[in-house]
Amino acid sequence: MEYFLSEQQKTLKSLARQIAEQRILPVRAELDEKEEFPWDLIKEMASSDLLRVFIPEEYDGLGGGCFDLCLVVEELSRACGGIAISYAANALGVLPLMLYGSDSQKAKYLPAVASGNRLAAFAVTEATAGSDASAIRTSAKRDGDQYVLNGTKQFITNGGEAEIYTVVVMTDAAKGSRGASALVVEKGTPGFTFGKKEKKMGIRSSATRELVFRDCRVPAENLISREGMGFIVAMRTLDRSRPGVGAQAVGIAQGALEAAVEYAQQRVQFGHPISAIQAVQHMLANMATELEAARALVYATARTIDAGAKSFTEESAMAKLFASDMAMRVTTDAVQILAGAGYMRDYPVEKMMRDAKITQIYEGTNQVIRSAIALEVLKRKAKLE
Ligand code: CAA
Repeated sequence: MEYFLSEQQKTLKSLARQIAEQRILPVRAELDEKEEFPWDLIKEMASSDLLRVFIPEEYDGLGGGCFDLCLVVEELSRACGGIAISYAANALGVLPLMLYGSDSQKAKYLPAVASGNRLAAFAVTEATAGSDASAIRTSAKRDGDQYVLNGTKQFITNGGEAEIYTVVVMTDAAKGSRGASALVVEKGTPGFTFGKKEKKMGIRSSATRELVFRDCRVPAENLISREGMGFIVAMRTLDRSRPGVGAQAVGIAQGALEAAVEYAQQRVQFGHPISAIQAVQHMLANMATELEAARALVYATARTIDAGAKSFTEESAMAKLFASDMAMRVTTDAVQILAGAGYMRDYPVEKMMRDAKITQIYEGTNQVIRSAIALEVLKRKAKLE
């Protein structure tokens, strides 16, 4: 499929591919095995300006949009989902600031993220608030010119490694989702500590930790937008970032398809390569077709967002849903084509299958994502009547 990328996008894509092939491929299995955060690779990406892609030009970024970010995330994910999410979660962490931050907040935080001096993370999820994001309990009570935070965030990607956290808290629990607010909390703030690093099925080189707030005092100027806007900030952030999860899924599936094709052409059974067997050919055909359909949906959604669409909750949710379900099928089939070899860690496809699973879970489980899409579909139907 020809997606008619601009010259700048082609350059960006090929830079990301070069880093992925030369630097990520040789170490991905080791980092996965050791569950080691890819700091060297993050620094390498920073020195190649990849961390500037999603930051506006006035804050030392390259001013790229959702589509540019998706192109980079796809290429990194083709090599390693864990390293790619460490990159993508950094973008997610600053999205609330880019969408709703004040000029002074942007000036303070965005250039540091653009240069790679500081990583960011986004924190909504809690033990009692997963799909039900408005059930958060972490509280922030105003005390003079500060907020005092108490509570624990769970499963935070880049947790512990990031320096800048955009955190959704309750400033007025009685108001439910309208009582939530978003704040920036910096690593090192007294009263802010981290829980243990989670041991995960996949994306094991990425860091996932609890954020623990105990009487943590944060300047009131760190409030993003205004009190009561936290849930909207979170939802609008996720609307914009979910195509990025779709791009991760597309990249992981692309890597798995390529590994399956290579293996099928080399593996000889019954006197010929297994790629000559129609059953295998049909699997490859389905994998390639579904992958391209997902890529087209992710790209179209990202371009819709960049073109200035006002509301894209549905499209963004669809891109994440379709691409992540596709990635799970394609990586599972890749393991099946490699069969016994595919199940072993000597080959990359078992990792790809493990990495693909999370794309069906984070930034909204595909079940809650379906509910969100259904809501939009029903609203549209109601409008037509
Ligand atoms: N844009 C703007 N406003 C929105 C919105 C959106 N996309 N979605 C909801 N709202 C508004 C509603 O209009 C409503 O406003 P009013 O109070 O004025 O009526 C308000 O927010 C509450 O909306 P709902 O009643 O629809 O909210 P809900 O409690 O039923 O939840 C939900 C809706 C879509 C299920 C939401 O809870 C959700 O998205 N859940 C999934 C959570 C999620 O994705 N978590 C991921 C965490 S981040 C992560 O995973 C990162 C990582 O690791 C890398």
